Amino acid sequence: MRNSIYPNPFTPKSGMEPRVFIGREKEIGIFERKLDEALKLKRYDHFLILGEWGIGKTSLLREFKKIAQANKVLTSYLPIREFQESDKFISATQHLISQIPRNLPVKYEILKNFMEYLRGIGISLPIIGGGVQLPEKIEVEGDPQVLLLDILERLWHAVKKETDVVVILLDDAQNYHPISGYLTIIKNVLSDDVIVKNTGFLFVLASTPEAWGQFLKKHHPIGRYFIPTLRLNRLCHSETLDVLDKILDATGVTFNDSIKSKIWQYTEGHPFELQILCSFLYDNQLGGKVTDDTWEVSLDMAITQIGNILFDHLYDDASPSEKEILKVISEEYKPVESKTITEKIKKFKNEAVNKYLHRLVSKKLLILEQRGVFALPDRMFREYVLRKF
Ligand SMILES: Nc1ncnc2c1ncn2[C@@H]1O[C@H](COP(=O)(O)OP(=O)(O)OP(=O)(O)O)[C@@H](O)[C@H]1O
Ligand SMILES: [Mg+2]
Repeated sequence: MRNSIYPNPFTPKSGMEPRVFIGREKEIGIFERKLDEALKLKRYDHFLILGEWGIGKTSLLREFKKIAQANKVLTSYLPIREFQESDKFISATQHLISQIPRNLPVKYEILKNFMEYLRGIGISLPIIGGGVQLPEKIEVEGDPQVLLLDILERLWHAVKKETDVVVILLDDAQNYHPISGYLTIIKNVLSDDVIVKNTGFLFVLASTPEAWGQFLKKHHPIGRYFIPTLRLNRLCHSETLDVLDKILDATGVTFNDSIKSKIWQYTEGHPFELQILCSFLYDNQLGGKVTDDTWEVSLDMAITQIGNILFDHLYDDASPSEKEILKVISEEYKPVESKTITEKIKKFKNEAVNKYLHRLVSKKLLILEQRGVFALPDRMFREYVLRKF
C-alpha cells in the first residue's frame, strides 16, 4: 500500500519558519517603507516589534530579512543571547560585533580585513558560512560604546560597495533585561553623528512587551527613539483559516469544518498554539481525514506539550489557594468578579480573594479586564488548568 500523505507541514517549535507565512501586512508595509526611506533618503528610522511569547516575532523578522535581501540589501538576523546581572556592557558589545558580521551573506574576501582587525582586538569569528560558532571566551577591553561605534563604522566601510543599506534584526531584546542600560548604549551609538552621517544601518528590534515596559521605566529616552512601536497580535479569524488551508494544500490531508472551527475557538489565532495543535491533529489523521474523532486526543497532546514549554512554569508560580481560584475561573470561563470566587469557595474571605486575584495578575496568570473583573489570559491555558484537577 502506498503512502500519499505529505510529511507533517506544521512547525510546532519556536523560531521555526512556517511553511506558509500569513498576515502581518501592516508590519511588512511599515518595514518596506522604512527600508525605502533608508535607500532613497538615507533616513534610518530604527523601530521596534513587541509581542508576547510565540506570537510570531522571529518569523516576522525572518520575513523582513527575505524582503530586504530580495532587494539586494544585506541583512543580519541575530537573537540576543541571555545575560546575567554580573555581565558587563562590554560583553554585550562583544556579542553584537561578533554576531552581526557572521550573519551577513557576503564572501569571505569582503570581510577579510575587517575580521583580521577584530581578531587583532581579541574577537575571533568563524569563517562566514563555515557554520562553526566559536564561544565568546576572551573578554575584550575598551569602552563598550566607543567600541561598538568604531566596529559598526568599520563594518560599514567593508560592505558598502555590496549594499546601499545594512539591515540588522535584533531578536529577543528582552534578554538585555539584566543589563538594560545597554539599550541606552545602542541608542547612543545609533544616534551618533558618525553613524548617522557615514553609515547606512537600519535596526529593527523585537522584544516581549513586559520587558520593554521595564526598560522604559528605567531609561525613558529609549522609548522615544525606537518608534514606531509595532504590537504583534494574534491572527484574525480569516487569517487563521488561511493558515490551515494554505499549509494543508496538496498534503493529502483535510481537516473538516468542525475541526477548523474548533481550532479557531481554542487557539484564538495564537500562531504557536495553532501550529502545535494542528501538528498533532495532522499526525492523528485517518485515511487523510481529520475529524471530530481525533479532536480530544490531539487537544490533550497539544496541551501537554504547551504545558512542558510554558504553562507548567507559569502555573507552578501559583500557591495552592491561587490554584483553587484559577480552577473556579477556568470552570466559569468568563471574566469573573471576586464575589463569584467567594460564593464558590466558602472558606475564602473577600479580602483574601482580592489579594490572591491581584497576585495572579502580577504573575501573568490572570488579566485584569476592568476594575474588579478578572479573566484567564488564554483559552488553551484554561484547558490546561481544567486538566490539573
Ligand atoms: N505569520 C505567520 N503565519 C504562519 N505561521 C506563523 C506566523 N508567525 C509565526 N508562525 C508560527 O508560529 C510559531 C511561533 O512563531 P515565532 O517563533 O516566530 O514566535 P516568537 O514570537 O518569536 O516566539 P518566542 O516567544 O518563542 O520567541 C512558529 O511555529 C511559526 O512557524
Ligand atoms: Mg522568537
